[in-house]
Amino acid sequence: MKFFIDTANLEEIREAAGWGILDGVTTNPTLVAREKTAFADLVAEICRVVPGPVSVECVASEAGPIVEEARRLAAMAPNIAVKIPLTREGLKATRTLAQEGIKVNTTLVFSTAQALLAAKAGSRFVSPFIGRLDDISQEGMDLVREILTVFENYRFQAEVIVASIRHPRHVIEAALLGAHIATVPFAVLEKLFHHPLTDIGIDKFLKDWGRAVK
Ligand code: E4P
Repeated sequence: MKFFIDTANLEEIREAAGWGILDGVTTNPTLVAREKTAFADLVAEICRVVPGPVSVECVASEAGPIVEEARRLAAMAPNIAVKIPLTREGLKATRTLAQEGIKVNTTLVFSTAQALLAAKAGSRFVSPFIGRLDDISQEGMDLVREILTVFENYRFQAEVIVASIRHPRHVIEAALLGAHIATVPFAVLEKLFHHPLTDIGIDKFLKDWGRAVK
């Protein structure tokens, strides 16, 4: 499974990249708005730190302007993927952009039907938002399971990015289902390291090592 980090924060991205497990980055307008760096500089630096796909989101709402915005974003670095919300206009734009070889990450996906449309339109990545479904008492992982089955049935090339991850269990469940990618907030990535028995084990080994004959 590929790990993307779901942030626009350069410190977090640099730190996670240093762990050697980072395959890409997803940003969105909310995440970008939390940073103090100018958008173009921020994106350029993220793309330099992480060679894998870096998703940046289009905010236009009509197909023509979405295509223009996406082309501008894609020209910023070779590893950009443009995020486009799943709408009729977004889908039209996705087809055009896919034909031009621009990687599209279809975002704000909340149903299998939406994922199917995105894959058919030529989207490279499809992002179901599982945490937001859990928030409204729907089982987000059921959506991931259905999408993976449909993509497998038809050998769609689109990769599923499990998004809106809230805790480590989401990451494990995504992996158990065979999702291609999880995009994980920094705080959740950090939690993946921890197990109290590891800490207790290290503590004991160090104490014992202190008594060993050397
Ligand atoms: C994914 O690409 C999105 O940026 C993200 O996962 C949204 O998550 P949220 O529901 O925590 O805002």
